[in-house]
Amino acid sequence: APRNNRRNPRLRVTGRGWLSAQMHVPFRLASALDQALHTAAATAGLDTTQFRPDVRPADPRNGDFQANGMLGYAKSRKQNPRALAEKLVATLPAEVAASYAIAVAGPGFINFTVRPATLQAWLQTFTTREALTAGAATGAAQAGQTWIVDYSSPNTAKQMHVGHLRSAVIGEAACRLLSFCGARVIRDNHIGDWGTQFGKLIWAYKRQLQADALAREPLEEFERLYKVGNNAADADPAVLEEARQELVKLQSGDADNLAVWKHINEVSLAAFQEIYDQLGIRFDVTLGESFYNDKVEAVYRGLTDCGLAEVSQGALVVFHDEHPRFSRTAERPQPFLVRKSDGAANYASTDLATIRYRVENFHANGALYVVDKRQGDHFEQLFLTAEKWFAKNGWSLPHLEHVDFGTVLGENGKPLKTRSGDNIKLKDLLNEAIERALRLVNEKSAELPEAERQSIARIVGVGSVQYADLSQNRSSDYVFSWDKMISLDGNTAAYLLYAVARLHSIFRKLETTPGAGEAAAAALETPTEIALARKLVKFADAVQAATDQLRPHFLCGYLYELAGEFSAFYNADKVAVDDPAIRARRLQLCARTLLILETGLNLLALRTLQRM
Ligand code: ARG
Repeated sequence: APRNNRRNPRLRVTGRGWLSAQMHVPFRLASALDQALHTAAATAGLDTTQFRPDVRPADPRNGDFQANGMLGYAKSRKQNPRALAEKLVATLPAEVAASYAIAVAGPGFINFTVRPATLQAWLQTFTTREALTAGAATGAAQAGQTWIVDYSSPNTAKQMHVGHLRSAVIGEAACRLLSFCGARVIRDNHIGDWGTQFGKLIWAYKRQLQADALAREPLEEFERLYKVGNNAADADPAVLEEARQELVKLQSGDADNLAVWKHINEVSLAAFQEIYDQLGIRFDVTLGESFYNDKVEAVYRGLTDCGLAEVSQGALVVFHDEHPRFSRTAERPQPFLVRKSDGAANYASTDLATIRYRVENFHANGALYVVDKRQGDHFEQLFLTAEKWFAKNGWSLPHLEHVDFGTVLGENGKPLKTRSGDNIKLKDLLNEAIERALRLVNEKSAELPEAERQSIARIVGVGSVQYADLSQNRSSDYVFSWDKMISLDGNTAAYLLYAVARLHSIFRKLETTPGAGEAAAAALETPTEIALARKLVKFADAVQAATDQLRPHFLCGYLYELAGEFSAFYNADKVAVDDPAIRARRLQLCARTLLILETGLNLLALRTLQRM
């Protein structure tokens, strides 16, 4: 049987046994095309300091990619864009013409349609998860860089509620996308583990802690204790004073209080981890606010010495006079408060210290803050302050970005709450998702054993919540709807997981495995085969768009379209045909669809299923 030449992957046995030297196929066809056009532009006599090919995915009716750059270039030079485009196309190297059907269209766009042989060569190059990963990292902007992703980051001693969902889910997808594109990613849980609430909490902990409740539901017990402390302090000024003393003792390093505080935080983190496990999250470091306690002095000194910070009404503040709201001449000046008037550190001081630490300790090229967009002002002021502080000291500033997101709304258009108006606990939300998914699985797959139905329900239930969140543009609010999210119809997790399971079942039924016997595959032929292959190669563009803009919904939209393209192919073209070469090429398409769907869903932190 024909075999691919392992030592020289460019030399392959293709089709019905012809030996041919194949072109090198890049993962990101669009970037390679952009490069080729840019190089050709010099030969065609264009000014390459000005000309940007601007290759992007095209409307499929026009081709696969479109170069739009000629219009602007020719216009600024008062030349005919069509004529220039023709000239540029004529200078493209032979292998580009061999790989694409090229047409100059409209006022001067250049359309490229990938030829079936090139599509298939791509499919034969990127055959495994490892190959895809290597391809995605080659030439990616993030490759080799160190990125800190600051996400989830809840406050301790409290349960996570629905408001904590988005940061965790979007943050994890961002981590996976970045590391797929070759970045070294450091997942940092910047927990809120230090604050004035600990005075009342420690006061009540010492008097009213219930060991059994702590063992059962630790975060509920801490919430109850905080309420006990708070109510007692409200009712009795002597208690308020005692609670204050507990806080002072904690802040000055009293061993007992530190031990209580440490216990509260450890128990909180262990409880958070149960939710993280469900969402596929493991942090590399958990450096919360308390970690920076001994690093804020240097921030006050540094900002004061370089003249950025000043004392105003007893507090240390930074004004940004170029900014309409943060300037001292604003109608209601809103400076960045970096030390409170009682001398205490705050959110801003620890965040400034954190930036320094991330640069010095991790050599970060970038830091992402996956935080609710309602904290936009804080991050705007933080980044402005850091920029100036670093510039004054001649330090190089990492890329700082607030990866913001909107609110999860109920069907009434208001932030999602329980019927009685309380916050919905994240734990309850995930449990309800699993229960609802189980109902769906029981209905559709009653024949599967009970234990398997349960484990399917966990993957479908949690995945549905993750996917419903990720498939929306993160900057917008979205309406949480159980019926839409746990459904086999539409752009949902269940639909995609079902597509994956169906692909596995195709291989099971034909008693073969993905990737086997592909060397015998004949050239792509039918319109549905070619349409599916054209979609498969665009995985690269979807990953790039999702990573560069940190918007996972681009990947979700792509996976949904891919699943649709697969269905069209599967309905039109029978896989189990007698002709072994046709069967092999169709199985190759099935195998690659499966690989890309599973890889894509894993990048979103969803788990996939063999059957459901
Ligand atoms: N603990 C904060 C909150 O619950 C989020 C922290 C986000 N990260 C940061 N470096 N500020 O709102």
